[in-house]
Amino acid sequence: MPVEVVAALQPTAGGRYADGTVGGGGHAAAILKASAPSGWLSGCDRDGVALEAAGARLAEFAGRFELRRGNFSELAEWIEAESCDGVLLDLGVSSPQLDHAERGFSFQQDGPLDMRMDRAQPLTAARLVNEAAEAELAGIFRELGEEREARRLARAIVEERRLRRFETTRQLAMLVEKTVRRSGSRLHPATRMFQALRMAVNDELGSLQRGLAAALTILKPGGRLAVITFHSLEDRAVKEFGRHHARDYTVTGQLDVPELRRPVRPQMKWVQRKAIPPGADEVAANPRARSARLRVLEKI
Ligand SMILES: C[S@@+](CC[C@H](N)C(=O)[O-])C[C@H]1O[C@@H](n2cnc3c(N)ncnc32)[C@H](O)[C@@H]1O
Repeated sequence: MPVEVVAALQPTAGGRYADGTVGGGGHAAAILKASAPSGWLSGCDRDGVALEAAGARLAEFAGRFELRRGNFSELAEWIEAESCDGVLLDLGVSSPQLDHAERGFSFQQDGPLDMRMDRAQPLTAARLVNEAAEAELAGIFRELGEEREARRLARAIVEERRLRRFETTRQLAMLVEKTVRRSGSRLHPATRMFQALRMAVNDELGSLQRGLAAALTILKPGGRLAVITFHSLEDRAVKEFGRHHARDYTVTGQLDVPELRRPVRPQMKWVQRKAIPPGADEVAANPRARSARLRVLEKI
């Protein structure tokens, strides 16, 4: 959604921007172009392969950007507090990650059960599927995949792995096909489970919570945060973060009882209340973009 991101961040010459999910560099290029001739961009990704692609894509902007391998949850450790005019987080996996079978993200093609964005981390999807307790697997499928058949799938995995280890994405997808029937759904029966495993392997919601807090730290007052989410769990986390920081009161305890509210200065405001969907042209060119939603907040 480069057009929408540029409209949200309004990059200007001399501005400083952080792209926490630089991927292939598409959005970063749009920000650098819009902030020519002197805008600066710090780009980060957990995936070393993505950073190589970004380096090549951004070569024409040499001298105006830096790239770093890491988790965006650590942005505030290398970018100075209150130094950025805009921060972008374009969440989830990239098309190159999904399309390369050996990365193990896709059940459409056979590959090793990997799913790590950062290939240096020890936890893989194979380790989780072969070693986690049944209750832990069921919890992951239910909470991160909103999977109704979570317990049945976890039980089927545990029974199957007594006979042989799970090594490949196809092997796991076939078990799901055998275990659950879904009439009338357009989704492949393994879609939710694969999403859940990927989110668990990469601790995506934990990174998002910490990344949003880091973005707030590095933004200048008046600077903007743009977040592109791809499913309801991510979108809910961003909405909740925005709601919390846009509130002019805090609550003591778990419940929001109006009489117990204490006034505080809000730290952020919504630039637009509603999430922004991609344009029809972008969805036609890239059907994967159809579930993308952009939310934009401004630091006060
Ligand atoms: C949807 S793609 C971004 C595409 C990018 N905006 C572009 O224009 O090419 C998401 C990227 O974010 C990276 N990523 C996801 N979570 C991350 C995290 N917590 N820290 C750093 N990078 C992350 C993935 O490795 C992937 O390359």
